[in-house]
Amino acid sequence: MTDHQEISLDWMSGDQSPPPSAELRPEVPHPARMYDYYIGGKDNFPADRAAAEQVLALSPLVRISALANRAFLQRAVRTLAEQGVRQFLDIGTGIPSAGNTHEIAQSVAPSSRVAYLDNDPIVLVHGRALLSGARPGSVSVLQADLRDPKAILADPAVRELLDLDRPVALLLFAILHFIDDADDPYAIVRTLVDALPSGSYLALSHATADFVDPNEAGKGPAVYRAATAQLTMRTREQVLRFFDGLELLDPGLVTAPLWRPDQAPQDTDGEVAIWSGVARKP
Ligand SMILES: C[S@@+](CC[C@H](N)C(=O)[O-])C[C@H]1O[C@@H](n2cnc3c(N)ncnc32)[C@H](O)[C@@H]1O
Repeated sequence: MTDHQEISLDWMSGDQSPPPSAELRPEVPHPARMYDYYIGGKDNFPADRAAAEQVLALSPLVRISALANRAFLQRAVRTLAEQGVRQFLDIGTGIPSAGNTHEIAQSVAPSSRVAYLDNDPIVLVHGRALLSGARPGSVSVLQADLRDPKAILADPAVRELLDLDRPVALLLFAILHFIDDADDPYAIVRTLVDALPSGSYLALSHATADFVDPNEAGKGPAVYRAATAQLTMRTREQVLRFFDGLELLDPGLVTAPLWRPDQAPQDTDGEVAIWSGVARKP
């Protein structure tokens, strides 16, 4: 596996470069597969399920939050497509599941193009087959690290698919909590947003411990430390800072189920541990 591994749909249709390889290491719990388990996916192994169950025993809200995050992703992408956005830069794609970004966007506007980026080769391995139904040339799955935003912006495969001189929706769903403060997530988001033209959007969701008893707050991240990722929970105020200089769409930064819900909210929806928002670059 090289630093830059592109899996294009041309390749999926059969005649291009060899398939990517990645060590699946099924015995080590993996955050993307744990998330897949939370949202009811099938791409996970016993070690992933055991670690996920440990997290769920500490906080059953994690599954509700993961499902709510996924539903927010779908409503946000649909809203963006309805607002006329046709280009999506989806970083931290995760293992494809039902209702992926390109499926939602293309159901509104078939010409929508989506660049999926994830730093995890395992996600690419799981992802390539599941994305094979997409319209050729409209979707790429690329290996890239959010901590190197300049490399993402300079990536020829990103630039081939997306015209960065025209509005782009930057999607950072459930990824920024994997970026440590030491890596300056605010500067990362600023670099990406600064490179996009007026009329672009930032949509993000972020795990929080705002609703958790302070004595319990460290336990979820501890399970992730035993897996392969660190988890940095942030407060609503800290998440709001990612939108500095942007215009938040109604209803602002809210817990995932409360962002333009399809159904009447339930009593517990205000405490789902995911802050969610969509904003426009003026
Ligand atoms: C919880 S999943 C979210 C999946 C999807 N965005 C969603 O909200 O349903 C987080 C994803 O972020 C990816 N990720 C974590 N840190 C990353 C980084 N530094 N660069 C790129 N991807 C990263 C993980 O590999 C994982 O696939």
